[in-house]
Amino acid sequence: MKGVVLAGGTGSRLHPLTRITNKHLLPVHDKPMVLWAIDALHEAGVKELMLVTGGEHVEDFRRLLGAELEYGNQERPGGIAEALGLAREFIGSDRVVVMLADNIFGGSIAATIENFGGQRAGARVLLAHVRETEHLRHLGVPRIENGRITEIVEKPVEPPGRLAVTGLYCYEPDVFDVIAELEPSGRGELEITDVNNHYVRAGTLEFDVFEEYWGDAGESIDAYYEVIERVRRPHFGSERPRPTPLRRFEDERGWLVEIARTGDLPKPIRQTNVSFSREGTIRGLHYHERGQDDLFVCLQGRARVVAFDRETGEAFYEDIGEGNFAAVYVPGNLAHGFEALTDVLMIYHVTEEYDPADPDEHQLPWDDPRVAHLWSTTSPILSERDQSAR
Ligand code: DAU
Repeated sequence: MKGVVLAGGTGSRLHPLTRITNKHLLPVHDKPMVLWAIDALHEAGVKELMLVTGGEHVEDFRRLLGAELEYGNQERPGGIAEALGLAREFIGSDRVVVMLADNIFGGSIAATIENFGGQRAGARVLLAHVRETEHLRHLGVPRIENGRITEIVEKPVEPPGRLAVTGLYCYEPDVFDVIAELEPSGRGELEITDVNNHYVRAGTLEFDVFEEYWGDAGESIDAYYEVIERVRRPHFGSERPRPTPLRRFEDERGWLVEIARTGDLPKPIRQTNVSFSREGTIRGLHYHERGQDDLFVCLQGRARVVAFDRETGEAFYEDIGEGNFAAVYVPGNLAHGFEALTDVLMIYHVTEEYDPADPDEHQLPWDDPRVAHLWSTTSPILSERDQSAR
């Protein structure tokens, strides 16, 4: 299997940062953006690589990366599929893994490449969870029915799902015949989504879902900085609730506990709340769509934190407080809540400020059949809002 890294395009969405340099040479944390793609491919065992970029930048990449790679020159940005087409000779009769050089994967891509190795024919894409509708509108979004992709819609106004196609694609060498037959899209480019839809129609497009952090650093200057902020933090890949034991430093006066260090969290804390709940109360289930995560610490009493992944159906609970002094970090896209198993004093740090004019608060009923069995009560004390959630 050979690899192709695509680093062309105009970088216009990152102007003026890209006026004198190629987007993929901009720093992302501790290395130029393009090295995230190259290192990910190397780690997955794909060593023979070609990099395709625009004319005046080939030499810059050569200075950075040397002669270990082949270079392709895309004279004008005619689309991702056109850029891939330039690797035809380099790939020959091998299979090819393609990676867009503005994609940042917060974990190994080896499983997808291995799965493609076991696939008889066709193509394979890697999907990632993207919660925000506005973000999905800038990506390729698959429609999935009965576990199969039935169509990929590029930059959909109404996204047909909450998974996006990342910039990692695996193809049989016949992909170059598919590209040769493509017509330019409305924006004058040969679209990679049209290539993928060819394999959808042939019934040979398979996919994996990436469960760790994925970012597209080329989407906008804001997205670029958001990606940098995420990758600078440890555990930036996590999409699951994460309990962390808290250590008490005790002496004759009493004790002290470090509840949170922002530097250890996937995102910085922006607001802190404390609530008191009478025994038997459930607060939830709530979720957020604009990226708010919550960190729960039960300061007094005992509480059951419940989280539910609306996409995979996975449910999670952890009793915290007396007997298990721990903080639980819950990615806010998961529906979450807690039950006061005793009278409870709960502190929760959140990563976005509450906006009363436009609250990012969404609900599932506390007794949704997929989680109802996790609570210890069947008749909780609820707020009016939580009671009316349907
Ligand atoms: O990042 C994932 C997304 O990448 C997918 O969800 C979309 O389906 C796919 O079309 C693509 O969308 P983008 O809007 O991000 O594509 P963009 O035009 O930004 O190109 C992404 C990379 O591809 C870019 O960093 C360099 C390379 N490229 C792009 C063009 C247009 C080339 O090498 N040559 C080109 O002509």
